[in-house]
This record gives sequence, structure tokens and C-alpha cells, in this order.
Amino acid sequence: MAQAWTKSDWRNKPRVQMPDYLDADALGAVEAQLAKYPPLVFAGEARKLKSSLAAVSRGEAFLLQGGDCAESFAEFSADTIRDTFKVMLQMAMVLTYGAKVPVVKVGRMAGQFAKPRSAPTEVKDGVELPSYRGDIINELDFTPEARIPNASKMLQAYTQAAASLNLLRAFSTGGYADVHQVHAWTLGFTEGEKAAKYREMANNISAALDFMKAAGVTQETAHTLQSVDFYVSHEALLLEYEEALCRIDSTSGLPVAGSGHMIWIGDRTRQPDGAHVEFARGVQNPIGLKCGPTTTPEDLKVLMSKLNPANEAGRLTLIARFGAGNVGEHLPRLIKTVKEEGANVVWTCDPMHGNTIKSSTGYKTRPFESVLREVREFFAIHASEGTIPGGVHFEMTGKDVTECTGGVRAVTDEDLSDRYHTACDPRLNASQSLELAFLVSEELSSLREARERAAG
Ligand code: PEP
Ligand code: CO
Repeated sequence: MAQAWTKSDWRNKPRVQMPDYLDADALGAVEAQLAKYPPLVFAGEARKLKSSLAAVSRGEAFLLQGGDCAESFAEFSADTIRDTFKVMLQMAMVLTYGAKVPVVKVGRMAGQFAKPRSAPTEVKDGVELPSYRGDIINELDFTPEARIPNASKMLQAYTQAAASLNLLRAFSTGGYADVHQVHAWTLGFTEGEKAAKYREMANNISAALDFMKAAGVTQETAHTLQSVDFYVSHEALLLEYEEALCRIDSTSGLPVAGSGHMIWIGDRTRQPDGAHVEFARGVQNPIGLKCGPTTTPEDLKVLMSKLNPANEAGRLTLIARFGAGNVGEHLPRLIKTVKEEGANVVWTCDPMHGNTIKSSTGYKTRPFESVLREVREFFAIHASEGTIPGGVHFEMTGKDVTECTGGVRAVTDEDLSDRYHTACDPRLNASQSLELAFLVSEELSSLREARERAAG
């Protein structure tokens, strides 16, 4: 039986990675204000995502989760949101082709503002200041004032999240997401000389779309060709914000995080007895749990029973992030634990956070090759364990940034300084993201073919 829970119980648990607000009155006023605002997402939507993730856990759908490492107030614009949304739809179409199952699309958007940091302070030229913790908490500028946690930033984050969701809802249903249009953008990518190797798959998708048209499936008759379900997610790190947006679902009478459809617990905040697990266990939303090299089978067992006591399919997504070359060492023992417990989980691969390096030119970057290699290792291990590689989780943007190296439109160490815009970790750009989708799609096709062969 799940233990009794209230949305404030996390306050009695040890907390890490959260700011100490100096002005308690200002913090209280912001919390009271947010608690009066409408939720950003609705319980029925979170339920629908959970049932789609249940399909992912059974291998009947595939999860694509992606977006900024940290959303930024300064970079916020309609174009930024549109471009990330657009490239995610392109990726989803390419992945659907390989997997032959629907792709569940979840943005790291409309709430991905708070960041865990590896060190509490940062030193530059002999000056030591508190670390930047994301735009919802403090500012990136390297001055003492900028680094003071300011509770009113939560209101700005809420406003930006609401505006982002408003736009995403319009893009999802307003014809912008039409499959034919999405595919036309992808064909543009494969015209590049080096991307020509992806043209065959793109042409096959064209043929499938032409066939549907000939068979009478048109935009008018098939509503699903014109609109998509698009969900939003973020790391539930700043618990004052999460608590203030927690609501009671009028249908079930149970608590729901109103801050996003899916929330996840980071690799640095997953202490089984800590504040973050305590908050997440009580809300009905789908929950993600980052699993890194230090995740032990014992911890995972406790976390699974706390976060999903009823073993509900779609409730818990394990986001593996071990780093290329390390998956074989860590993933099998966690898969073993999941099997022993008979736990229903979605397994997804975050090939970003274990592959961050410093470039020869001094930038924090991630090589495309390492990202791809980790995904391939993840697929290979699931194939040998007979378990389901349910999805991928990328830090990416629809913009043409130069933050990760490699890809067919190669970004070199020297190029990194050109358009390095991230407020936190390096993101795949639009072309690198789409290229990865083609490569993951190939993995998914071979997996499917092997399964079909085995089934005779
Ligand atoms: C993140 O997803 O941005 C992140 C900080 O990841 P992790 O908790 O896995 O390090
Ligand atoms: Co990150």
C-alpha cells in the first residue's frame, strides 16, 4: 500500500540541489500567487500520456523525448519553439518508419528551467560565486547580484511555460503538423550531398504517403495526419514551484503535477529518502528516473516500489545515461533488477549526459559519434536481454547551433565558438538531431526484422 502523502511532505526530507532563498516573505508570496494560477497541463492529458507510455513499455510505441538542457528567458521566442517542435516531428516520422509503431513525442519544454550542478560554486579568474542554477532560480551573468536566488523568477518561468504551451497546442492542431509538410522538410535535409545516404529511407516514406493518398486517406478523412499529440516534461527540481502547481484531479480526486505532463527525477536528486522522490511519488503523472553509473540495484528496487507501488504500466520511465563504452557495465544489472521485481517500466536512453567532454578549444561539447555509440550499445543490450528499448532522450534544438561536434554537416572543435548558445549543456542542432533519428530508425528496423524472423 502506498503511504499517505501531501504535497508539502518533501519539506521534511533531506533536499539537495535546491536554492536557499534569503527572503522568506518574498518566496511565500510567490508560492501563494502560483498556487492561485491555473495548472499548465491537465490531469486528463497526463493520463493519456501515461497510457501511451504503457504502450511503449509493451513495445507497441516508441518514446522520443527532447529539447533544451535548460530553457532560457533570453532565448525565448516563437521561432525557437517552432523550430524544436518541427525537428521533433521530423524525427518522429523517420522513427515511425523504422519502428512501424507510433512515436510518443515529449518535449523538454515549458518548464525545463531548473538545473542541478556538479559544484555549488564557480570560480573565474580567481573570483568564486554561487553556481548558475537555471533561469527560474538565478542568472547566468557572473556577478554576485545575478547569482542570488530570486523567487519572483518562478512567476516569469510560469508565464513563459504558459506561452510555450499555448503555441505548442496551436502548432499541434493547426495544420502545421501535417505529415506531408513534415516530410517535405525532411526531403530538404537529404538533398545535402553527405546526407544523400538517408535519401532511400526518405523516398520510402514518400512512397508510403503517396500510397495512403491513392487509397483515399487524405487530410480531410484522417484527422491524425494533420494533428499530433505533443507533451511537455521537465526535471522536477525546484520543489517550491512543483508544490505550488500541484492540483487535485477532479476526475480521480488524486494529486497531479500541473507543471508539465511528465516530470523526472535527476541523477543527482534520486536519493530514495530524499525530497525529490518524496514529491514525485505522490503525483499521478508519468515519472522519469535518471539512472547513471552510480545507480545501485538496491536503490533501484526501493525507488521502483516507492514511485510505482501499484506497478502501473506507463507510470515509470527509466532514463539510462551511462556514457558510450559504459552501458555494458551498468545496464545489465539494472535490467536484471527490473526483471526480478517483475516491474513494468519504459526503458529509454539519454546518450547526452554521460558523454560530455571538453573540446580542444575549451568548450563543453559532446561528440555525435559518442551519442550514437551509446544508443547502439543500449539497443544491443536490450536485444541480448530480450527487453524493450523503448525510446531516446536528447538535448537538442531546432536551431543551427554549434554545440556538439560531428554529424554529416560536420561541426569541428574550431566551429564550436561560432554559434554556441546553450545556457547549460551542449545540444544537438537540427541537422544532427534528424541524422540521429535516421540512424536510430535503422536500429529499430533491424530489431523489428529480427523479432519477425524469430516469430517465424
Ligand atoms: C538533464 O537532463 O539535464 C540532467 C541534468 O541530467 P542528469 O540528471 O541525468 O545528469
Ligand atoms: Co543537461
